[in-house]
Amino acid sequence: MLIKSLTMIDFRKYEQVTMEFGQYTNILHGENGAGKTTILEAIHSLAYTRSFKTRLDADLSRHGRVGYQLKGLFSDHQGDEHEVRLKVESPRKKLVSVNNKSLTSRAQIIGKFPLVSLTPEDSELTFGSPEIRRLFFNKLLSQVDPVYLENLQIYARILKQRNALLQAYTNNGVAIDRVLIATLDDQRAEVAALIHEARSKHLSEFKKLLYEAYGELETENSLKMAFISNVRITAGSIESIYRSAFQDSLAEDMRKGLTSRGPHRDMFTFFLNTKDLRKFGSQGEHKLVLVAIKFAEGRFLENFLEEPPVFLLDDLFAELDVKRSKMIVESLQGSHQIFITATDLADLRHHGLKLEGDTLQIIDAGKIQANG
Ligand SMILES: Nc1ncnc2c1ncn2[C@@H]1O[C@H](COP(=O)(O)OP(=O)(O)O)[C@@H](O)[C@H]1O
Ligand SMILES: [Mg+2]
Repeated sequence: MLIKSLTMIDFRKYEQVTMEFGQYTNILHGENGAGKTTILEAIHSLAYTRSFKTRLDADLSRHGRVGYQLKGLFSDHQGDEHEVRLKVESPRKKLVSVNNKSLTSRAQIIGKFPLVSLTPEDSELTFGSPEIRRLFFNKLLSQVDPVYLENLQIYARILKQRNALLQAYTNNGVAIDRVLIATLDDQRAEVAALIHEARSKHLSEFKKLLYEAYGELETENSLKMAFISNVRITAGSIESIYRSAFQDSLAEDMRKGLTSRGPHRDMFTFFLNTKDLRKFGSQGEHKLVLVAIKFAEGRFLENFLEEPPVFLLDDLFAELDVKRSKMIVESLQGSHQIFITATDLADLRHHGLKLEGDTLQIIDAGKIQANG
């Protein structure tokens, strides 16, 4: 996949600009505040209908404006072009179209324009709460498995309904409709089993790629990733295991006013030399694991979708030594379209980026006319 051009209207600091990109390495150069990250956000917003920094479209609209527009021309590995447009007219109205065909759900675009982003926000992936890792894996698996995404959406709807009943009971003493709860839990057990099976299957594949990628960066330490199911799955029908776990936890759920068991509480944990990375890892160790996760993400997407993803690399070299930086850059430069931000070009060269040849395009973010 590659993105050939981008138009932004009223998107953050940009009033109206169009820019063209090169097939391989695109360097977004400029001082802090020049607008480099915004370009990455725009590309991500087109591919996934939302930014990696915020879910609030109001933050993305240029100060004083309500709404913004983005347009991107993507080209797949067969050379077929796809024009993606995203138009936010008001806080609750977002229109997305591909080749002038309006989309009716996010699912229609997820996985069509694969990107791998590595930005400062991603450090949360290893430092942050279990929810962040769940979201990451949900996004990853949704791209290769539309049925998984559909099941997540069904599960979320059931969960919301169940929690509303529990809260009405706990907070306001509204009697619990046990028949309704039982029906919801039957439906929930059915999708929970499908979600569990998809996670188990895809994550064993992802793990292989992760260990391989980590081994290329680091040979001293050993990395393990565990998928820890919130309900212990023993032999037998997964659906009935979930069903009885849901029944068993109902009394506790009524006390707490929330749903305590189910795949919405599954955990994905990284261990470095058998120790929980989140608790014990150093900054540098976290960063290497993060880079390995991102490499594995790229290979996973490429294997499944048969389409090389675009890499969005923001502030890549922070916490990374020159040796590792060189390995990363060499493995991507010339084979994938990459966007890499830099305040200092000499720093890029120092970290192994080739700054000459026809694979390179330098975009001076500071010189892009915010209104031209
Ligand atoms: N909604 C907005 N409207 C106008 N300007 C914005 C908006 N959001 C951010 N900015 C401005 O954009 C600049 C940051 O752009 P950014 O892409 O993060 O720069 P860089 O990555 O080059 O440091 C800041 O000057 C910020 O004030
Ligand atoms: Mg930035």
